[in-house]
Amino acid sequence: LEPPPVRSDGPQDIPDFAPAWAAAYEKAKSMISDFSVEEKVNITTGVGWAKGLCVGNTPPVRDFPGFCLEDSPLSVRFADFVTAFPAGITVASTWNRELMRQRGAALGKEHKGKGVNVALGPMMNMGRIAAGGRNWEGFGADPYLTGESAYETILGMQSSGVQACAKHFIDNEQEHFRTQVSSNVDDRTQHELYAHPFLRSVMAGVASVMCSYNLVNDSYACNNDKMMNDVLKREYGFQGYVMSDWQATESTLSAVAGLDMTMPGDVTFDSGDSYFGGNLTTFVHNGTIASARLDDMATRIVAAWYYVHQDDEGYPAVNFNAFNNYDEATNGHVNVQEDHYKIVREIGAAGAVLLKNERGALPLNKPKRIVIVGEDAAPGLYGPNEFADQGGDDGVLAMGWGSGTGNFPYLITPLEGIQERARKDGTGVFWNFDNWGITPEPGTNPNNASQLALVQDAALVFINADSGEQYINVDSNEGDRQNLTAWNNGDNVVLNTAALNNNTIVVVHSVGPLIVEPWIDHPNVTAVVWANIAGQEVGNSIADVLYGEYNPSGKLVYTIAKRPEDYPAQLNDGGVGQEIIDVDYTEGLFIDYRHFDAKNIEPRFEFGFGLSYTSFKYTNLKARKVGSTDDAENALIANWEDGKATPIAEGSSAALWLHEPYIKVTFDIQNTGDLAGTEIPQLYLHYPASAAEPPSVLRGFANVKLVPNQLKKVELTLSRYDLSVWDVVDQGWRKAEGVYTFSVGQSSRKFLLKGTLPL
Ligand code: NOJ
Repeated sequence: LEPPPVRSDGPQDIPDFAPAWAAAYEKAKSMISDFSVEEKVNITTGVGWAKGLCVGNTPPVRDFPGFCLEDSPLSVRFADFVTAFPAGITVASTWNRELMRQRGAALGKEHKGKGVNVALGPMMNMGRIAAGGRNWEGFGADPYLTGESAYETILGMQSSGVQACAKHFIDNEQEHFRTQVSSNVDDRTQHELYAHPFLRSVMAGVASVMCSYNLVNDSYACNNDKMMNDVLKREYGFQGYVMSDWQATESTLSAVAGLDMTMPGDVTFDSGDSYFGGNLTTFVHNGTIASARLDDMATRIVAAWYYVHQDDEGYPAVNFNAFNNYDEATNGHVNVQEDHYKIVREIGAAGAVLLKNERGALPLNKPKRIVIVGEDAAPGLYGPNEFADQGGDDGVLAMGWGSGTGNFPYLITPLEGIQERARKDGTGVFWNFDNWGITPEPGTNPNNASQLALVQDAALVFINADSGEQYINVDSNEGDRQNLTAWNNGDNVVLNTAALNNNTIVVVHSVGPLIVEPWIDHPNVTAVVWANIAGQEVGNSIADVLYGEYNPSGKLVYTIAKRPEDYPAQLNDGGVGQEIIDVDYTEGLFIDYRHFDAKNIEPRFEFGFGLSYTSFKYTNLKARKVGSTDDAENALIANWEDGKATPIAEGSSAALWLHEPYIKVTFDIQNTGDLAGTEIPQLYLHYPASAAEPPSVLRGFANVKLVPNQLKKVELTLSRYDLSVWDVVDQGWRKAEGVYTFSVGQSSRKFLLKGTLPL
């Protein structure tokens, strides 16, 4: 599937996948035209848990081969000879569309090489709560950035021939009691925040969507007519199919609410029955469910297969066994890694965020002696795949845990990455990986690392924090984190090292925000790199950053608060003994930085923040109206400009006129320092007061590489959609009344240029 070219300087050309869908629909309709009810039902019903080679399987029906559906959003789960890519949170932190696209394309290629039809990602839940267990699978706590990341990932994946799956639809924001939580979300917040990445996924032509475990406003997401039929299929014009999350189907009638496929097929793992299968057949035969609905379900599924050209001769058959890697009859051990490690390494570096850098601590410049401290710098005791689904924290953290993981083919630790440089530089290297063995006193043993820490040029301290999916409990963390502190005594590792060494450089591998107050202002903590979770090349990526081979350009994709209670929403873990737990999204539009801004709460590090080894100057801001329109669109545009919601029509939220460039913003950026580097200018919109929006909302970013002194003009565009609010009464997008202003700058709080939109 041919995607539009990727541009690093703002919104993309809007692809038109309608002709490809139309052609696929035609073929699909013709294929199933003489299928029996039973055959069509088979297309929609998984074969049951662990009854095939993949985590999800649908059976062959005549010439239609059925699907292999496989996790994860960062690898081919349960397979060997595959790449373990950086997590979603890390690629989002690059704010680099090209890297997002490349990662998607490489992931798609690996899935295809293993014979996977449907790769179960990307995951685009929003990080509403800082401790959310699966936040690292996604793209941070802002809908715009999440939307762009999802969009590029899907374009990349599907260009490689695999079907992508936008998940989890929708409001799947905590792991505790995930099948009992009712996420109660108002219509405007739903449209503007949580559904937005799914709209972008539809615009990227996504083949499938996975509905989530939770309830949405008291009705299960996989049984939710409003979200599946009305928002996804009607408003967004989604043409692919909706599958359930595993065991998330609630009834046969979910088909009427818009569910097209049940996964893994049985009601519960191994139960031997299904809500679809024979039950669906009966319901169609007795007229409870219209046969046209079944036709639509089967058509959508078969069309998605044609749409990404999986009907082509030579699409690989499944050649791995998710349930038994060592079964030689089914596992062909096909090596699909190519040179994808290069992308992994680059994203790991580009996704690292420099939060503090004083007294020229970084980049390291041929240090004489260094001490590396903390188990996060070292290998885990029993290898990179010590824990099933990565459900544990031992050694360097390069992935969270759960279904969103994969097996590491190998794992380069920070120790390894750094020692390679040490060899070149002639640096003396010491270490202590015993997180409970670092004391603040120097001690008397000259070989003790605590003693050694005293005298080294720099102490590089590695700490981490882990989280994951609910079915694995790690150290009493049931998926979601219990708190926002570093794991394995991390804060004390930093403090005790800083007590001995006045050039303590901290590297954090974390699934999400931590409270860094115990040590962030310590005068001996000279630098902090927030390296996210970086995949199999983690050690090389961080060495590239520490030694300045990659000049840091990553930006935070969430706010790092001073206190946990500063965040607008907290984990609801009080559901024991309750049937349904109401989680009211009372903060509405005010998640993450939007809340800190509105409530005037000083964060420790704001959303979008990140330093560089060089400096940049912004000048010459201009904004003008652009875009020609044809007559058919004029009525809609006039309506929108009058502040009236757009009329309801199929696909109206994805309509071209709403998304094409409307305002063009230009400005210049110059590299004013001594090193080549990449700047990520960010555009924040300030709506007129009448809109009752948060003070600033992200609506654009670019990725600008500059050598010293070089100056480039940057262009960002805003669409009408970017300026709209969702009108809950008229059910459409409209312009707010009043003056729109905007800022361009280096974070959600560091605005360097300000302007008014010429509307
Ligand atoms: C449940 C998870 O929520 C989902 O993300 C995953 O794709 C399925 N299990 C299949 O493993």
